[in-house]
Amino acid sequence: MEAMADLERTGRSWLTDAVIYGIYPQSFQDSNGDGIGDLRGVIDRLDYIVSLGVDAIWFNPCFVSPFHDAGYDVADYLRIAPRYGTNDDLVELVEKAGQRGIRILLDLVVGHTSIEHEWFRTELAADGPHPEGDRYIWRTDEPERGWESDLPGTPQWVRSPGPRQGWYLKNFYDEQPALNFGWVRTDPAQPWRDPVDGPGPKRNRQALKEILDFWLSKGVAGFRVDMAFSLVKDEGLRDGVLASAAIWQELREWLDDAYPDAVLIPEGEEPRTGARLAFDADFMLVIYAPHASLFDNHSAGRLPWHEPRPAFFDAAGEGSTELFLDTWAHLREVDPQRSILLATADHDFTRLRSGRAPEELGAALTFLFTWGSVPSLYYGDEIGMRYLPDLPNVEGAICSPLYNRAGCRTPMQWDDGPNAGFSAAPADSLYLPIDPDPDRPTVAAQDGVPGSTLTLVRELLALRRRTPALQGQAPTTVVNPGYPFAWLRGEDHLVVVNPRREPATLETDQAEGMEVLFGSGCDVTGDRIELDGFGYGILGRSR
Ligand code: BGC
Repeated sequence: MEAMADLERTGRSWLTDAVIYGIYPQSFQDSNGDGIGDLRGVIDRLDYIVSLGVDAIWFNPCFVSPFHDAGYDVADYLRIAPRYGTNDDLVELVEKAGQRGIRILLDLVVGHTSIEHEWFRTELAADGPHPEGDRYIWRTDEPERGWESDLPGTPQWVRSPGPRQGWYLKNFYDEQPALNFGWVRTDPAQPWRDPVDGPGPKRNRQALKEILDFWLSKGVAGFRVDMAFSLVKDEGLRDGVLASAAIWQELREWLDDAYPDAVLIPEGEEPRTGARLAFDADFMLVIYAPHASLFDNHSAGRLPWHEPRPAFFDAAGEGSTELFLDTWAHLREVDPQRSILLATADHDFTRLRSGRAPEELGAALTFLFTWGSVPSLYYGDEIGMRYLPDLPNVEGAICSPLYNRAGCRTPMQWDDGPNAGFSAAPADSLYLPIDPDPDRPTVAAQDGVPGSTLTLVRELLALRRRTPALQGQAPTTVVNPGYPFAWLRGEDHLVVVNPRREPATLETDQAEGMEVLFGSGCDVTGDRIELDGFGYGILGRSR
């Protein structure tokens, strides 16, 4: 309740009932024919974005970068990458989107920079530690074994290409040296372990403020924060996570004065430390198992923490909601009012459509847009774009032989024109190939067409917007966890989805006196709800 009261006071409460639209800037709309999306392209498509019924756009990083990791390797935090446009274009986008009621969220990647960042170049060129404290983590003695791991995202030592001697710690790929936010456990035998309040970490914390200040002063509404809880990297995780959270809490205090309206959404779940929470939501159900257990058939690849299990939203009907619901219940218990983001997909994992026929999307979208979360709609999922397998390793998309992210990063499919309306460039110079299927979904083919995925998304989001009980705050109470999956929103709305091919029936007192307000293949008679395969319904009390 306290967190909610804070939000009300600050003007950040819009987030609790918001719908976010995730844009991978490379692939949305190319306005200058270079084969890569850009900000002008997004400005030109603002009316379309508004037509979906979303409240904010989250952009993957669009700053200067050599793009070894699609821009998650930032070389200049204060400049838009020229291929996307200029800082002025971003300001224009913020203004024009704002006039249409859409906020802009950027991606803050501060656990690491690119090797091309001036900070790294300076330290690499030096013959020893920076006199004001190193911004990166360097060691001169041979790293002990035991740090190595095949999992990208685990810190590992990389031999310095020189002139500086020794090794630097990386955060993800070798080209992404970890910024130095210090260590909880210091050790004189390991002098590279600066304390959290050492001079290097302090410089980085100051830089973090300057980055936030720079963009927030331009009207940006906030940030999604990449790898938010691994700034401090102590082994054994928990200490580092708590120390990382403390950095964000300090930052939130500063924000409360400087930009009280600014929203911060972490990648991950904010640890509850007893101190005031720094972030406005948990964005935990992304590449993690609870989300995978509902949707992900792992065609983008299996991550080490994914156990093979059938997805619940699958025609075979062999999955379970248990893992998701347990996680949900835990988050609700620790924080009843806190927003939780639930994404259709993102730039790191399989699209919603993967392994599903278009007629299967209704049940999934009905769940995602009426559950008590903040939905994040990944561009292209509103028309049912496919994950494309076996694409080349563009900008670090392939993390491991089993994990290729390129397939969920392909160009938006607008119409039947050249390159599906994405770009005027020759097809072989596009950022990634377009879905070659002659029947690939497009906006033009679905626009205004009853029953299309695009129409369904618009109708669901419009219904959500005019029905407070279907938004972020009203209670979500599970009525049936299996097939059909059924839950109450508030007291007067019952949502039922049947993601499997076989029909499903539910008898529940909750259905008494209700009628189908919206749905397909869903009938209610008394306390009995009957759903066709892939049916879905939003039920309300008859008046
Ligand atoms: C981003 C990835 C990126 C990684 C390293 C992740 O959490 O979502 O796309 O590769 O951070 O920055």
